[in-house]
Amino acid sequence: MQRLQDRVAVVTGGGSGIGLATVRRFAAEGAKVVVADIDAGAGEAAAAEVDGLFVKVDVTDEAQVREMFEAAVAAYGRLDIAFNNAGISPPEDDSILTTGIDAWRRVQEVNLTSVYLCSKYAIEHMLVRSKGSIINTASFVAVLGAATSQISYTASKGGVLSMSRELGVQFARQGIRVNALCPGPVNTPLLQELFAKDPERAARRLVHIPLGRFAQPEEIAAAVAFLASDDASFITASQFLVDGGISGAYVTPI
Ligand SMILES: NC(=O)c1ccc[n+]([C@@H]2O[C@H](COP(=O)([O-])OP(=O)(O)OC[C@H]3O[C@@H](n4cnc5c(N)ncnc54)[C@H](O)[C@@H]3O)[C@@H](O)[C@H]2O)c1
Repeated sequence: MQRLQDRVAVVTGGGSGIGLATVRRFAAEGAKVVVADIDAGAGEAAAAEVDGLFVKVDVTDEAQVREMFEAAVAAYGRLDIAFNNAGISPPEDDSILTTGIDAWRRVQEVNLTSVYLCSKYAIEHMLVRSKGSIINTASFVAVLGAATSQISYTASKGGVLSMSRELGVQFARQGIRVNALCPGPVNTPLLQELFAKDPERAARRLVHIPLGRFAQPEEIAAAVAFLASDDASFITASQFLVDGGISGAYVTPI
């Protein structure tokens, strides 16, 4: 499929996991891809793989975010797609009883303030052509509670979900679609390391997933490419769940 032929896409967190899989999928569908990441080694490698542009960015820094979108437009002439995806889930973000204010604030900055900044500056460029698709990475934890809490992470993703909905409504008639992507647990290096060390923690989660496994990053990237493309032309302000059925489940198959 070449649904993104000559579209210009910015992917934050494009050096790893879901972002990297999406960089590859966007390029395979014909897009020109700007890989943005705070990790220069990973980001440069991803950009080189797809013959794209690498921009080193800390998504919590307003000037750097503005310059990232300016660099994309300077290189390729326009901005069609923003996949605002960079995020963190550090171990010090845990139960509300043990999570300190510094850990809380850091996660809010990287996961939520970044999406505010990236959406703000992406929309400015998209308004010029009255067309664009913004996909903000939230999570299934924005719609479901977990007893295994990561309190700031969950709150940040709830914020991403509500903000994306509001932006989708506000800019709908100006040709800009905004959707919140809500992945279930995805088999990224982070998750592998966590659960390879502790199979019981993996089992505790797998029992809730009707499909009985974690997602592969490519399965999330496929949903992002759909939302980015004109195939999703009537989809905006949505909470787009790609969660293996978790959010629909009461009792799962064994
Ligand atoms: N993996 C999962 O199970 C899962 C589930 C639901 C949602 N998500 C969300 O998906 C997104 C991607 O997650 P992933 O699993 O691919 O993670 P990952 O750790 O594999 O990749 C995240 C990327 O973001 C970059 N990054 C981190 N902080 C940054 C900053 N300040 N500025 C710029 N880049 C920064 C990292 O360098 C890395 O390349 C995150 O928002 C995450 O919360 C992940």
